Amino acid sequence: MTTNAAPLEGKVAILTGAATIFGIAVAKELVDQGAQIYLVDINSAGLEEALNQCGAAASGLCMDITSDTGISEIVSQTAATWGGIDVLINLACSYEDSGADSTREEWMNTFNVNVASAAMLAQAVRPHMIQRGGGSIVNLSSISSKVAQIGRWTYPVSKAAMVQLTRNMAMDFAPDHIRVNSVSPGWTWSAIMDSLSGGNREKTDAVAAPFHLTQRVGDPREVARVIAFLCSEASSVVTGADWAADGGYSAMGPEQGVPAIPLLME
Ligand SMILES: NC(=O)c1ccc[n+]([C@@H]2O[C@H](COP(=O)([O-])OP(=O)(O)OC[C@H]3O[C@@H](n4cnc5c(N)ncnc54)[C@H](O)[C@@H]3O)[C@@H](O)[C@H]2O)c1
Repeated sequence: MTTNAAPLEGKVAILTGAATIFGIAVAKELVDQGAQIYLVDINSAGLEEALNQCGAAASGLCMDITSDTGISEIVSQTAATWGGIDVLINLACSYEDSGADSTREEWMNTFNVNVASAAMLAQAVRPHMIQRGGGSIVNLSSISSKVAQIGRWTYPVSKAAMVQLTRNMAMDFAPDHIRVNSVSPGWTWSAIMDSLSGGNREKTDAVAAPFHLTQRVGDPREVARVIAFLCSEASSVVTGADWAADGGYSAMGPEQGVPAIPLLME
């Protein structure tokens, strides 16, 4: 039987980190695919902007996800507003990282926001998903989880932890019909790229070109579509997996996309 229903029709999703370019793109994609969403961020002005852009299918709360009482409120408010919870997207992150000089406090803060809060949120939504007969959780990881990058320690290690946490969650939540996957974007047009390049996307594409097969940064909507797929029934056989949404970054080796063998004959 074919149906014209939107892929996420009738689904209720919580999205953390909704206040900047990337989060807003994910929120809009979910709404376009039929979901009702509950947006969360610690940045109230950005959250307001996200809610304005998403319209009537979105509500939300300005909250620090490192607070357990905050997490309880996020979850109870979502269920009260939309009648249940089917999807959790752990997108909020801290980029705080002083590489080899990172302090214990920086390690703890990074892991608190990026890993522990994602786990606490998953724990809190689980009973609500069970009530709906199952659900889907998507954790944001990164290409940074698999390669070394100069001067970065806490963030990449937290993103590697997300990939492993995804497997552990997928194992223990499988009996509840809750699927858990991670998405690892490459360089994606986002608040940090916008601010570092002075809003110059062409320049950002040119810098990214040598290490992405697509020769450019990803668009946040492109990554959002991968996330939305993992939230939908179309991916019902997928759990415990890490999905590259990286323009081929992780397929490329150290030789990059240039012929190295001819250099031997020069
Ligand atoms: N930008 C990229 O190129 C890229 C690449 C790979 C992976 N990612 C991943 O994508 C996700 C989004 O990245 P981004 O670049 O848009 O980041 P960003 O910093 O622009 O957005 C993160 C959001 O999380 C919010 N946040 C931080 N701490 C919080 C807290 N304690 N409580 C509630 N909200 C909090 C911030 O206010 C911010 O709005 C992250 O998980 C990141 O690791 C991004």
